[in-house]
Amino acid sequence: MAVPFLDLKAIYREIRAEVTPEINEVLESCGYVLGPKVAAFEESFSRISGTDYCVGVSNGTAAIHCMLSASSLEPGSGVIVPPNTFTATAEGVILAGMVPVFVDVEDTTWNLDPDLVAAFLKDNRGAGAPTDPGTGARIGAVLAVDLYGQPADHPRLEALCEEYGLLLFEDAAQAHDAARAGRPAGSFGTAASFSFYPGKNMGAFGEAGAVTTSDERLFRKARSLRDHGSRDKYFYDYVGHNYRMCAIQGAVLGVKTRWIRRWNDLRRNAAARYADLLAGLPLELPREAPDSRHVFHLYAVHTPRRDALREHLQARGIATGIHYPYPLHLQKAYENLGHRPGDFPNSERNSRENLTLPIFPGITPEQQDEVAGAVGEFFGG
Ligand SMILES: Cc1ncc(COP(=O)(O)O)c(C=O)c1O
Repeated sequence: MAVPFLDLKAIYREIRAEVTPEINEVLESCGYVLGPKVAAFEESFSRISGTDYCVGVSNGTAAIHCMLSASSLEPGSGVIVPPNTFTATAEGVILAGMVPVFVDVEDTTWNLDPDLVAAFLKDNRGAGAPTDPGTGARIGAVLAVDLYGQPADHPRLEALCEEYGLLLFEDAAQAHDAARAGRPAGSFGTAASFSFYPGKNMGAFGEAGAVTTSDERLFRKARSLRDHGSRDKYFYDYVGHNYRMCAIQGAVLGVKTRWIRRWNDLRRNAAARYADLLAGLPLELPREAPDSRHVFHLYAVHTPRRDALREHLQARGIATGIHYPYPLHLQKAYENLGHRPGDFPNSERNSRENLTLPIFPGITPEQQDEVAGAVGEFFGG
């Protein structure tokens, strides 16, 4: 039996009756950009993220750019990010005129390692603010990614940021409705960014993103920056961008705010089932920190035999992914930061050994049995 990596059609069919009238309302209104559907979505999503405000934007990369540009960080500030993430995390920092500063991840959760951040800050403290030895940028913030759907250790990162006078930001693109220490993803630090790319746990019918925050000043500036830096129509306080959210995406996402908890619970059940089915195999399974609500955007396993396992599954019609095959510090786009192989061993191992297995809300027990059976067969079980 072939098993897809993700079944978006099943998710669409589930909400079709609810979402179609909402989209039709937008079509009939002919108000295609921002408007009441986006405002209603922002209101619901700020509740899910445990913040006072939400700004809907055009995609997750725009959200990172907008969030950092709307903050009090000076241009040229160093922003600590993990190398083991989608390029948009570091790209958003550069778009905001700042400098990504890589620090390695834990080899258990694959999220930014607070111990390594602490060591980096201590070693590079000097007389004043910590400074990146590679670029000379003064460190102003940490931007931690909630990789695979599990929030980074934000409580510890918050304490570190407070100690060093830094801001904390959260790239929660993969973690809608996740939680850590009883607090929702999106609520940590100064602000958070989300992506609603179609394959995300909460995906739009196209591109969309959001910034969540309880900082009123940042909220106002982010809202202005998404719309050319305007205060009122044709009056501009800043040079901004066209990062407005389309009304149809606001309508779709408004509906999906009512489904995300149920879909994430189904993902969590499927992850628990995989954990049972794959137990005992020579394979590292995802590790959920005890205080986490991991929402399994991706079910990432690790093995030194990753490429052979992937081929084996592919031959049986089972689709898999690699997130991510090459860490950012070794990518050509970031070569000016001067890193070399060996600088961030955990991120490099993640790139060599990770394999993401099919997981989505409607995955059936038979599909999971098929995947687990084929993995077991590979390991000679
Ligand atoms: C961790 C992370 N950050 C940022 C983004 C960027 O989001 P988008 O593709 O909506 O620009 C993504 C999604 O692709 C992501 O996974």
